[in-house]
Amino acid sequence: MKHPVRLERQSGVAVIAIDNPPVNALSTAVRRGILGALEACLSDERITAIVLAANGRTFPAGADISEFGQPLQQPGLPDLCDLIEASDKPVIAALHGTTLGGGLELAMAAHYRVAHEDTQLGLPEINLGILPGAGGTQRTPRLVGVDAALDLMLSGKPISAQKALEIRLIDGVVGDDLRETVKALAADTDETKPTRDRRDCLADGAHYMSRVSERRRQNDHRFAAKKIIDCVESALLLPFDVGIEVERDAFSECLASRASAGLRHAFFAERRAPKFPELKQASARQVDRVGVIGGGLMGSGIVIACLSAGLPVTLVEEGETGVNAALDRIGEHYKRAVSTGRMTQGQGTSALNYLNLTTEIDALRDADVIIEALPEDMVLKEAVFAKLGRLAKSGAVLASNTSYQNVKDLADAAGRKTDVVAMHFFAPAHRMKLVEIGVTEDTDATAVVTAHSLAKALGKIPVRATAQPALLGNRILQGYRKVADRLLLSGATPAQIDTAMRDFGMPLGPYEAQDLSGLDVSWALRRRNTDWPAPLDLELADRMCEAGWTGQKAGQGYYVYPDGRRTGEPNPDMLKMLADERADKERSVFAFTGQDIRDRLLCSMINTGAQLLEEGVASCASDIDVVMLHGFGFPREKGGPMHQADALTPHHVARLIEGLAEVDPDLWSLSPLLSKLATERQKFEQL
Ligand code: CAA
Repeated sequence: MKHPVRLERQSGVAVIAIDNPPVNALSTAVRRGILGALEACLSDERITAIVLAANGRTFPAGADISEFGQPLQQPGLPDLCDLIEASDKPVIAALHGTTLGGGLELAMAAHYRVAHEDTQLGLPEINLGILPGAGGTQRTPRLVGVDAALDLMLSGKPISAQKALEIRLIDGVVGDDLRETVKALAADTDETKPTRDRRDCLADGAHYMSRVSERRRQNDHRFAAKKIIDCVESALLLPFDVGIEVERDAFSECLASRASAGLRHAFFAERRAPKFPELKQASARQVDRVGVIGGGLMGSGIVIACLSAGLPVTLVEEGETGVNAALDRIGEHYKRAVSTGRMTQGQGTSALNYLNLTTEIDALRDADVIIEALPEDMVLKEAVFAKLGRLAKSGAVLASNTSYQNVKDLADAAGRKTDVVAMHFFAPAHRMKLVEIGVTEDTDATAVVTAHSLAKALGKIPVRATAQPALLGNRILQGYRKVADRLLLSGATPAQIDTAMRDFGMPLGPYEAQDLSGLDVSWALRRRNTDWPAPLDLELADRMCEAGWTGQKAGQGYYVYPDGRRTGEPNPDMLKMLADERADKERSVFAFTGQDIRDRLLCSMINTGAQLLEEGVASCASDIDVVMLHGFGFPREKGGPMHQADALTPHHVARLIEGLAEVDPDLWSLSPLLSKLATERQKFEQL
């Protein structure tokens, strides 16, 4: 095995070069390598200065996250940082790439830091529910002051090398030849190491304490945020070594927290999802032009996503009215981007220059990927796919943004089964990061990989699914809504259910969400298609649509929105309608707690997720989590429904579902896979 740390000597300067692709994470082997190299340098009298650098694309991007949760192997990163700081030979860190987390902590322990001008530096631990645990909470405020330190640690966002220089996080920025420049600096450094007065940043203690209190008053709900603020306060009030002890305890508490487990799961799940098996079988075709059919809300969002990624688009709309409406929608987006300073006028104009808006479907002849984004009307879609089958160029990918129809039928209509996939975006498509790629048994690997590469080029996370109506996310959503409706029928109110799910961490409850997106969309689907989605067993939604209460845009739905307000009050007419339906159906009414509601809705997501795995629609449990995190706003610190199942244990979830099935046997049917995991005391992540 290649050694992950190399030591080179050139006259009096030693270079310790970390070499652990892809991101030089500070794994046990790397830490051991650095320790060995440092000890060799310190005991070698010929060496007068040490350069700490990294090969490949970056200086370490942090501790090795995959080692978290396992017993800590020596040496720990804090010990290495101490050894570097205590070295009587000057240590200069040469930074490039993404110098993050433990990587930056290692650099902060060095006596000087010089970065390449393109370097991004940051302390993103908060995104994983932890804090800088190798002395970072104590060294950062001493180096850059409390404000900048809290900004770095609480935002988790990286800063540029130039900004890092301004706040004195680093000592120099260089253009080319970082390694050679730093080696030359090291050769020139006089041999006495600079001692840093660890009390420096306490000079204006009262000011800094007020900044700490201010941050505390902002009441950041994240556990790690509270701990970071505590640690920075310790840096102000306590000697360095005691502050380090505070940091160590806080780090252990954060690492053991459920939020950190959920966030770390999300990190790896997002990176696992795009690893489609087809990537080993085929290469993507070049995509020089995208075609989009339908410039409604979804189609326009897809067009904007493509234009913003610099991809030319041909958008086909019906008639002049359709063309003008689409142009208004897309133009409005760029106008707003320019007026809010997110884009210059020139950038907005040049993005629009890549758009060819037409009523002629023939204009799609030269498109490499064509995405149909029409309303969920199968007759219309099949007619369009039949045309595409005849006119699209050979090898073009024919994709449908459908969330409900069977893509196999569209492939049949096109007569080009190998070229057809689902590419299901989430609204608004230019902002939401998720794209479900639905693959039929006939889809060619090249078509799959080309759709995947387009999704990546748009900055999206592609998740693979076997093409089935509703793919992954909407299958789960359907079960979720069904269980919510049953709760309504059994005594809960929309407001109770929405509050319970917001308390769980969802951005919106199921009824607020329907009011926002419009109840008429799924009403139209139910009327058009008797098989899918399955008819509701609560008639309330249909009755509401018949009365014109289609949600926010109509001024009333499950809530009323007087004077165009965006937050509603419970709709008394809807509650009366619900009470009438309960009475007609002679339903007994029960009182539900928030926990009852959350248990049922979470169990529904988990049970449907398990069914999707059984059916082979989802490739792995963590893909379902990515879909729920990025498509439906499932709270990230909870990791996703399948991660929650593992955290609660499948055994516990299965017992809950069995209990629910006793009361509502027509609604609940325990997934055999979940039952098996429960019996064998296994977890989804072990599948
Ligand atoms: N540990 C382990 N693996 C890591 C890693 C880390 N810190 N950072 C990235 N990786 C892995 C990814 O899982 C991925 O692996 P696969 O190829 O097997 O999927 C690979 O490196 C490449 O990562 P990306 O796909 O994310 O590549 P990118 O170029 O899009 O982004 C990055 C690179 C900006 C470094 C991004 O990976 C990232 O943000 N990483 C996390 C950085 C981080 O959070 N650091 C702090 C760690 S915690 C810490 O350091 C605590 C401490 O105090 C000691």
